[in-house]
Amino acid sequence: MLKNNIKHPQFGIWDYWRMYQARGIQLPFKYFVETHLFDLLNHTDTHTWLPKSQHETIPENFEHGTFYMSSWTSEIQNSFHVIDKLLGDEFSEYSFIDIGCGKGKVVLTWRKACVQARKSQAIFGIDYYEPFLDIARNNNQRVFHDDGNYSYEDATKTRFQAYGDKLIIYLANPFDEFILEKVIANLSSSKSIIIYNYPVHGEIIVKHGYKLIYEKMGSLPLTQTRIYSNHITTT
Ligand SMILES: C[S@@+](CC[C@H](N)C(=O)[O-])C[C@H]1O[C@@H](n2cnc3c(N)ncnc32)[C@H](O)[C@@H]1O
Repeated sequence: MLKNNIKHPQFGIWDYWRMYQARGIQLPFKYFVETHLFDLLNHTDTHTWLPKSQHETIPENFEHGTFYMSSWTSEIQNSFHVIDKLLGDEFSEYSFIDIGCGKGKVVLTWRKACVQARKSQAIFGIDYYEPFLDIARNNNQRVFHDDGNYSYEDATKTRFQAYGDKLIIYLANPFDEFILEKVIANLSSSKSIIIYNYPVHGEIIVKHGYKLIYEKMGSLPLTQTRIYSNHITTT
């Protein structure tokens, strides 16, 4: 059943005005194309960010988490194309997990890309803030008419082996180095590819034996993505 009773701040013209004042016309324009438009086209609720001060409950490790904002559409699509090309016929052997999935934008965009490319893959999202998962399932219903695979879980508790033998992990800067260290330590025994968007603590991933196999530079942290792997060495 769709839940529509979740109250989150609305996003309006003043937010665009603030962006314009801070960075000029390019940022509000890009923001519209890369986040707001997704919701208008898909009748979803993903682009509105949520400051941590407006969370209704405080999960464990909250002080280490970043606030919710959605990844930009073209960043997710670009990563999909890099991974699709990299893995070729092995693509479907991997499970995809967005760690810190929030309202499900990455899961939805990845699944749409799979459908378009006629590829199948097990796709999951996990988050430690339950109200986001209700929104994610609601969004999933609107796009795919099912709830999708979303789990209420702290990333430090994830048993990666339960998701599959080979993993693609998506991280859109969900937490600080303290949590990232624990997550990568747990993950590193699995054959894994890490897509790190807004990659502020990449050195921790390298420290655990991963090699950088792809890098996309961008003028904003949001438009920078690095891809690491512990078992594939070249693109
Ligand atoms: C910047 S948002 C990214 C949302 C989504 N991945 C995207 O790119 O559209 C970071 C998300 O990580 C979640 N998060 C932070 N710390 C977490 C933790 N320890 N375990 C699970 N989720 C966490 C937050 O609740 C938030 O939804």
